Amino acid sequence: MGQQLKEERMRIEELSQGLMALRCMQVRLTKEFEDFTGFSLSRYLILVYLMDHDKCLQMELAKAVGIDKAAITRHLKVLEEKGYVMRERDGREVLVCLTDEGKSCMQGCTCKDKEMDVFLLDEEIALFESFGLPLFDGIVYGRKSIREFDESVKITQREMAQILQEACLAPSSVNLQPWRFVVVESVEGKKKLEPLVMFNGVQNTTSSAMILIFGDLQCYEKADTIYSKAVKHGVMSEARKKKALETFVPIYKGFDETKMESVVKIDCSLAAMQLMLVARRHGYDTNAIGGFEEDKLAKTFGLDPNRFIPVMIVAIGKAKEQGHDSIRLDVDEVVSFV
Ligand SMILES: Cc1cc2nc3c(=O)[nH]c(=O)nc-3n(C[C@H](O)[C@H](O)[C@H](O)COP(=O)(O)O)c2cc1C
Repeated sequence: MGQQLKEERMRIEELSQGLMALRCMQVRLTKEFEDFTGFSLSRYLILVYLMDHDKCLQMELAKAVGIDKAAITRHLKVLEEKGYVMRERDGREVLVCLTDEGKSCMQGCTCKDKEMDVFLLDEEIALFESFGLPLFDGIVYGRKSIREFDESVKITQREMAQILQEACLAPSSVNLQPWRFVVVESVEGKKKLEPLVMFNGVQNTTSSAMILIFGDLQCYEKADTIYSKAVKHGVMSEARKKKALETFVPIYKGFDETKMESVVKIDCSLAAMQLMLVARRHGYDTNAIGGFEEDKLAKTFGLDPNRFIPVMIVAIGKAKEQGHDSIRLDVDEVVSFV
């Protein structure tokens, strides 16, 4: 059997085991739910809907709860026999409502003094994690540079903001987050960028956006804002904030230009990497670009070149080409164990 076929079969086997385990988990949790509430899941959902809607059509109820005509009739018959619901005919329609007994039973359901045990078991957590793995594999190991994108796909500013917010979860030295992004997405913006991107014209023309990543050489100016936010979120004490400000801000201010540039470039590169992975999580691909006119980028986009240094451009969009497998040195050529 070919290697590819073998791998495919293994993946299907893993998936079938995962799905079976999910089914077992559903059975266990549903039983837990039924023991706690005294109702099957469908009947509970029917009662919840009726709690929120004084009187409704049986058809409407079936649709809202997502069960078919035969099943709703069966469930309502049982609930009626128990005295929890009432049905009445209105011409061809059937109207349903909760009885007082049904209402008080529902209130009792949520006021029990015991707690519902809906916690996942260890093996169930492991199962979820194992499902997360292929997701991780696809995002991380499937990333490759894409240089031609589907021009018709635009990323909304809302999604772009989300992507960048997630990219900003990258770590940075003393959490100063020196990255600043300019998202070049308009025709005019791309035109301005065109003469600066050297041999990377296709990415500029076809991508949803070219994200310019700059490092702020005065990033320490935001130290107070950042640490105050940390205090507000309860992850830093007021005393630690004071100490951090007194310690780190003078150190940063004392860096010479070369050191400062190197510090912000390291942080911004981590954000760039995170951005490329987050993009894949959102269904997009990227190309890291270092080939551009460094000395012109900030000024062209209205930034002070003495303060904002260009680190990288990341082209982002829906892939139009497949890209090729990443070729890497073997691990023993780049690692030494000491
Ligand atoms: C800092 C940096 C600068 C890069 N600059 C360019 C560039 O200007 N144009 C380009 O087409 N690719 C550029 N690349 C992409 C690399 O060529 C690519 O990452 C490398 O060949 C490995 O391929 P892969 O990304 O598909 O794994 C750059 C990558 C990095 C990290």
